[in-house]
Amino acid sequence: MRSPTPSVFIRGLGAYKPERRLTNEDLSRIVETSDEWIRSRSGICERRVAAPEETTADLGAQAAEVALRDAGVGREEIDLVIVATASAESTVPSTACLLQRKLGLRAGIPAFDISAACSGFLYLLQIANHMLRAGDYRNALVVASEKLSRIVDWQDRTTCVLFGDGAGAAVVSKCDVPHVGILGNVLGADGTKGDLLAVAPRQAPAPEPVEGLPVGTHRIVMNGKEVFKNAVRVMSQACREVLAKCGVGIEQVALIIPHQANMRIIDAIVDELGVERARVKVNLERYGNTSAASIPIALEEAYREGLVKEGDYVLLVAFGGGFTWAATLLKWFQPRTIS
Ligand code: ACO
Repeated sequence: MRSPTPSVFIRGLGAYKPERRLTNEDLSRIVETSDEWIRSRSGICERRVAAPEETTADLGAQAAEVALRDAGVGREEIDLVIVATASAESTVPSTACLLQRKLGLRAGIPAFDISAACSGFLYLLQIANHMLRAGDYRNALVVASEKLSRIVDWQDRTTCVLFGDGAGAAVVSKCDVPHVGILGNVLGADGTKGDLLAVAPRQAPAPEPVEGLPVGTHRIVMNGKEVFKNAVRVMSQACREVLAKCGVGIEQVALIIPHQANMRIIDAIVDELGVERARVKVNLERYGNTSAASIPIALEEAYREGLVKEGDYVLLVAFGGGFTWAATLLKWFQPRTIS
């Protein structure tokens, strides 16, 4: 007799938000902007900024520690570590290798980073899903970590008001229960639109730091209006595709967790899909856009708040630089109590 098709599911979640809060009022002392403009254009009220000594790997390690505890999985049981980030301090060694060392994970397990901007966490879920299903690994540590404050141009009011620092992590495991956990994914990219949202080298000499905010060698550049239009169209489409692929109707979905970029983008997607706001998780007012980390931070919060329950369909959807996009449908599986 054939063994049941194994499932791959999120076994534990963790998040880390740096302590320092940077409010819209604080920003209005740095660039010509106002709380009213930022709130009405984006929905963001404040964001977190990592301490100067905190690295992208440090933020990820904090989130990962919580996820490991939550999953009840020991470090020695992790046999794959993958990281999504657009703000790594180094490309080599990768943030995943730095995390492996920092957390004392087993030597010899594979560790690598991916670059898919704000879609990174969902890209990682798909990678873990396939690598675990293929049979070689049982538990993956999946981490999205961003210290965007080092690539934000704190002189550019059109971008600096939108982003924040943070990290989210998941322990992703295999189980023998059929048809639970990650039910389906769609991933996509359009490299022809790469220039509309990019991390580019600074052209002008770096300015003096203000308010203790870092000044990096690179800066985020963005055509806000084009990003906005594409994000709404592509995320709505990705939601429909993944639901069709899984044979699940939007009315069956208990919770939608969209990338937390802008409240107006989320509102437009919600209208497009015809769902009630009550079924959409939003926390961007407190953290801004934390790129790859935004979905796991919001998912972890929803999970701690008891908004996701055993058997619920949860729809995750992201869009980011590249352009990249992704949607993932989960059937929440929780063979444990929340720690
Ligand atoms: N404070 C005050 N005024 C500002 C600010 C600011 N922070 N930024 C821009 N303005 C001014 C502009 O200079 C412009 O002035 P002008 O009319 O005199 O030229 C005016 O406000 C309007 O600017 P717009 O760019 O037209 O503002 P818009 O309504 O398009 O909002 C925004 C800009 C918020 C960036 C919007 O386009 C947007 O949300 N785009 C999506 C981008 C996004 O979310 N990116 C995140 C990364 S991508 C991702 O994660 C999906």
